[in-house]
Amino acid sequence: MARRIVICSGKGGVGKTAVCANLGMSLAKMGQRTVLIDTDIGLNNLDVAMGVENKVVYDIIDVIENRCRVKQALITDTMYDNLCTLAAHGQAAHKITGANIKHIVNSLSESFDYILLDCPAGIEVGFHRAVAASDEAIIVTTPHISAIRDADKVIAILNNYMINNMSLVINRIRGDLVMNFEMLDVDNIVELLGVSPVGVIPENDDISAYASMGVRLKNGSEAMEAFDILAKNLHNGTKKIYDCTNKFRGVIGKIRRNLKRMV
Ligand SMILES: Nc1ncnc2c1ncn2[C@@H]1O[C@H](COP(=O)(O)OP(=O)(O)OP(=O)(O)O)[C@@H](O)[C@H]1O
Ligand SMILES: [Mg+2]
Repeated sequence: MARRIVICSGKGGVGKTAVCANLGMSLAKMGQRTVLIDTDIGLNNLDVAMGVENKVVYDIIDVIENRCRVKQALITDTMYDNLCTLAAHGQAAHKITGANIKHIVNSLSESFDYILLDCPAGIEVGFHRAVAASDEAIIVTTPHISAIRDADKVIAILNNYMINNMSLVINRIRGDLVMNFEMLDVDNIVELLGVSPVGVIPENDDISAYASMGVRLKNGSEAMEAFDILAKNLHNGTKKIYDCTNKFRGVIGKIRRNLKRMV
């Protein structure tokens, strides 16, 4: 039976799709059979982040409207053959119900270890559809107050669902700003939200550039390391957290912080 995990946030643009795509790749690299489902119907971009948008023949709406079987709509990843994407190209979001998504998730459950649902922003119908089909939730936030407030509202709503396990991914942390006390640190955010972190991802130009073009992170890059730690925490229940401040500590770190200020 697969773990069914919705990746949600409340606020838009905080990195749900980037987390879904890169967490999926890290899980697949660990040998886990993983499927990523885009439930952001109409505003889809998971297929773009995965670099498979040109391979989409059938999407989630074709599955729901019985134009194909779910396995025909899965696009196998270019790098990992145990990783698939179910895209959401169509515009007919209004025709889709939570039961439809749940049916698809159920039908994939035996064949995969992880089902990650990339949730739309907001707390409207699309959010409820994705959450209703999930057993666990990863709430993505950035260190900014507007994102944290929305994450807090989402956590309150998730408490009304049959969600067994909620965890936090704090995305776009800048170690230099944290060290200068200009950005909330991980402990501050965890204390505000009362949900434990499963991962911390640094602000990183590679993610920004690559996620929007479907190009993969470089092996050994700090962004990839952060996603690998996230995947291991999720899978093994460990609590290791990527330290974004590490390279900004000490004398050399202070020079780096000052240099960052000048660019
Ligand atoms: N850690 C990061 N560092 C730098 N850029 C990032 C990071 N995470 C995400 N981004 C960039 O931020 C933008 C928004 O990310 P993404 O599309 O994943 O957010 P989202 O929450 O899925 O948005 P939406 O609510 O619209 O679905 C993208 O261009 C992405 O590449
Ligand atoms: Mg998205």
